[in-house]
Amino acid sequence: MAANATDSRLRKPPGPRDFLGLRTIDAMKRNPLELMLDLHKTHGEIVHHTLLNAPVYFFTHPDHVGHILQDNHRNYQRGRDYRRLRRLLGNGLVTNDGDSWLKQRRLMQPAFHRRRIAGFGETMVQETQKMLAQWEAPASSGKPLDVSSEMMRVTLNIVGRVMFGAAVQDDAARLEPLVTMAQREVRNRLYALVDVPEWIPLPGNRRSKNARETIDEVVTRIIAARRQSDASQEDDLLAMLLEARDPETGEPMDDDQLRDEVRTIFLAGHETTANALTWTWYLLAQNPAAAEKLRAELDWVLDGRLPTVADVPQLPYTKMVVEESMRLLPPVWSLSREAIADDEIGGYRIPAGGSVVMSQYLTHRHPDFWDEPESFIPERFSPEQAKARHRFAYFPFGGGPRLCIGNNFAMLEAQLLLAAFAQRYELDLVPEHPVELEPLITLRPKHGVMMTLRPRA
Ligand code: HEM
Repeated sequence: MAANATDSRLRKPPGPRDFLGLRTIDAMKRNPLELMLDLHKTHGEIVHHTLLNAPVYFFTHPDHVGHILQDNHRNYQRGRDYRRLRRLLGNGLVTNDGDSWLKQRRLMQPAFHRRRIAGFGETMVQETQKMLAQWEAPASSGKPLDVSSEMMRVTLNIVGRVMFGAAVQDDAARLEPLVTMAQREVRNRLYALVDVPEWIPLPGNRRSKNARETIDEVVTRIIAARRQSDASQEDDLLAMLLEARDPETGEPMDDDQLRDEVRTIFLAGHETTANALTWTWYLLAQNPAAAEKLRAELDWVLDGRLPTVADVPQLPYTKMVVEESMRLLPPVWSLSREAIADDEIGGYRIPAGGSVVMSQYLTHRHPDFWDEPESFIPERFSPEQAKARHRFAYFPFGGGPRLCIGNNFAMLEAQLLLAAFAQRYELDLVPEHPVELEPLITLRPKHGVMMTLRPRA
């Protein structure tokens, strides 16, 4: 229910006493997950704090998440965080808003249709097969691998091939550290006291500029190659973007918009799934009973052959493992919006212009909705248990009209890759290697995840 702007009966939610928000910023910079857990524990479901005098409202209850993302989504727009994210992604589907977003979303939606996605399965498995071949040497020598880099590489190759028909394997090694670095710069900026304009040649600005230029170099090359080829032969996302015409003017998409959409899908479409898979390996290594049950399902259904799209419905436990992994360690761990008009949530007033923040990391371990929230229990995603749960107790892909466009793509990819790798190898953590969560835009392992491969008999 929207509140009357002059409704003075509504109170301000509780929160830390921190005049300019400097202490909160400091705690946020050090460890945002700890800070959010602490705010929730101390102040409850709705917490108010300030960041440099700007009000921020932090929500954990699924009712409130559903209100913001779905029931009253028209009142919530992309805010300051997304404006800063534009420096990395440009104005593609993730950061765009309003009519321009709707137009682009409608245009791109058919490329992500469930039936089309199923057609990508073969490429996903081919790329996995290539990686399995590359894993033979480290498997026999016992040399540890950074599973996070490995997953980045395979998912980057997949998104390049299926969305843009481009081979990008030679770019993977170059792009990976840049994506990490660019995310660090974007996050540093979120808590910076002054948003230094990009043209001022400070080291941080220079680093983000270099990263973006390198990413753009790859993207521009993909677009140029397609323009020179016989584009009518292709029917992937890039073909759709190139053929699109404005219904009123008949004009094609301009070069900047095209580049921003390609850059967005390229980045949003690989790094998230790679993190989901990396965390899945990490959690499986610590939960041998679940890993054993997964392998039993794979052996029973696949009997040693590589999986196909047709096998996926026969692999329910594989899916539950991915879902449970994204519950505990969600690749996108927080979302934010900005209120357009005053609103009322949970009896509190949310003023126009206020930032609202939700965190999957917190809601996914909310004790009212999850038993033993810190334990890895894939069975909680059985259809019966999932159906009985609040719709917004679990939202790894967001919700409402801005639900992740790539969610079916990501789930198919994660299940196929996990099935193919897990039936061949058991992955063990290297004991002395520290695994530390780094909550940037995505939740990443700060020093990678070093693991050894044990071929299955
Ligand atoms: C496990 C993997 C993934 C996770 C956890 C994930 C998560 C998310 C989330 C939470 C959002 C909503 C952001 C918001 O509401 O502010 C989102 C949006 C988006 N995602 Fe994903 N994503 C994944 C994979 C992918 C893939 C594979 C693609 C493309 C191939 C993709 C493309 C996008 C795009 C374009 C948007 C913006 C949609 C819009 O606002 O219209 N994502 N994703």
